[in-house]
Amino acid sequence: MIVNPISYPGNKNKLLSQIIPELPNNCSQIVEIFCGSGVVSINSNIDNILLNDISIHAIDLLNYFYTTSFENIISQIENIIFEYKLTYTYKEGKANYIELKHEGLSNYNREGYQKLKNDYNKQNDINKLIVLLIYGFNHYIRFNNDNQFNVPVGKVDLSSSIYKNLKLFVNHIKSKNISFSNKDFREQSLYQDKKAIYYFDPPYLITNAPYNSNWNIDDEKDLLNLLDDLNDKGIKFALSNVILSNGKENTLLKEWSKKYTTLILKRQYRNANYQKKNITDTIEVLIKNY
Ligand SMILES: C[S@@+](CC[C@H](N)C(=O)[O-])C[C@H]1O[C@@H](n2cnc3c(N)ncnc32)[C@H](O)[C@@H]1O
Repeated sequence: MIVNPISYPGNKNKLLSQIIPELPNNCSQIVEIFCGSGVVSINSNIDNILLNDISIHAIDLLNYFYTTSFENIISQIENIIFEYKLTYTYKEGKANYIELKHEGLSNYNREGYQKLKNDYNKQNDINKLIVLLIYGFNHYIRFNNDNQFNVPVGKVDLSSSIYKNLKLFVNHIKSKNISFSNKDFREQSLYQDKKAIYYFDPPYLITNAPYNSNWNIDDEKDLLNLLDDLNDKGIKFALSNVILSNGKENTLLKEWSKKYTTLILKRQYRNANYQKKNITDTIEVLIKNY
């Protein structure tokens, strides 16, 4: 599977192998309404794609990867890494750096990253944003109310795995036929193609991730009503969500889902403790009407 190098939290990377086979083959296009990093559509077997997200930054990044060559992107990113004196372990290796536990490379990059963040918040250059996301804490994409990027430095840099993912993603996305859109999910113009599969991965009502904080019960109800409307019109949809998280249950979703087919997904964790915790605390699902 091909993952977006800007793999911000909430992405479906670890569930792709379970979601992709559930998407129907005989549809005109896949419309991904809450696309984030876009990995579900981009890994699907469907060539025609509409990627929508309310975050203009998510859409700008995907559009940039779609329209710009890897060579062009990497040379601009490298210029920024050198200008701001950030570490670059893909090229330099790790031998030069002492990584303290829990801190990784953050001490080496803190000063340059802060300067880069200040400059990005004045100029909004997309290559600077890519570097901030690669070097930022947990790769969060987060802006404050004044639209200022406000994530602190993270532990990692442009490593060989991120370099490899960037190259694969930027090359693979060009093999698809993609349109982009930056609308709220309630916008009816998104739902004009009756032969499409509509895939939804909204923020989750019952988890605490920072990108979920603006999602409330009214949004959840609007979404579930919208899905019922699609179903009434004979339009196919698939919805990713969690029914149970850290002991909290989404009873509204659980009741609603009984009308449709619910598949329980299993996350793959390397660490056995996570696996145990996941089984008891979180139930991730794919709910579909076909
Ligand atoms: C769980 S993330 C999607 C992750 C994505 N499936 C991936 O694998 O990267 C939810 C996304 O919904 C977007 N979003 C939040 N509210 C929205 C709204 N009202 N309309 C459309 N998109 C919204 C967020 O910007 C975020 O990118």
